[in-house]
Amino acid sequence: MQVVPDTSATPPAWAAHDLGPVVISQDHIAARVHELGRAITEDYAGDPPLLVGVLKGASMFMTDLARSIELAVDLDFMAVSSYGSATKSSGIVRIVKDLEADLSGRHVLVVEDIVDSGLTLNYLRKYLEARKPKSVEVCALLLKEGEQRVSLDLRYVGFTIPPTFVVGYGLDVAERYRNLGGIFTYTGPGSH
Ligand code: IMP
Repeated sequence: MQVVPDTSATPPAWAAHDLGPVVISQDHIAARVHELGRAITEDYAGDPPLLVGVLKGASMFMTDLARSIELAVDLDFMAVSSYGSATKSSGIVRIVKDLEADLSGRHVLVVEDIVDSGLTLNYLRKYLEARKPKSVEVCALLLKEGEQRVSLDLRYVGFTIPPTFVVGYGLDVAERYRNLGGIFTYTGPGSH
């Protein structure tokens, strides 16, 4: 097989005008997702969880993580929309797409893209716990350092990052840049 150089740390030309430096390269994401998958495989060996991906930001993470878990997990998705400005959530969450699965007596593992204030996740956890699952745990790819306004119990965290707005690997600004392989600082319109 041809050896392909790791160009994932450089923003592609079509996006470069709105992006700052790489925060996490595609290769680093892949390596960490595999580690998380191994940890989840060990922790849930006796009773595989229902993975609940939070659309749309966690879509890439969910599909990669699910394939790194060597257990008979089930997959479901929720879509939430959080009111607020383009780059800050308010904590008022609206369920845009609900789960199809019955949670009673099941281990639930929420797969989330990024935890900033923590308000979205706090709301989701309460919402899911009301459906009487066996447990609710969280696997977040990114945690923004020092930004949380509520105390959260995050069982799995991929990376802790500085509190800047980032895009790529599922994360967007106005629906754009989700399809970047790596995660980059956003420096375009609306950033400050
Ligand atoms: P929180 O409620 O403040 O924790 O915000 C969580 C949600 O806001 C995430 O699921 C993302 O959809 C969005 N979000 C927060 N920070 C960023 C970011 O840096 N880039 C893209 N989306 C973000």
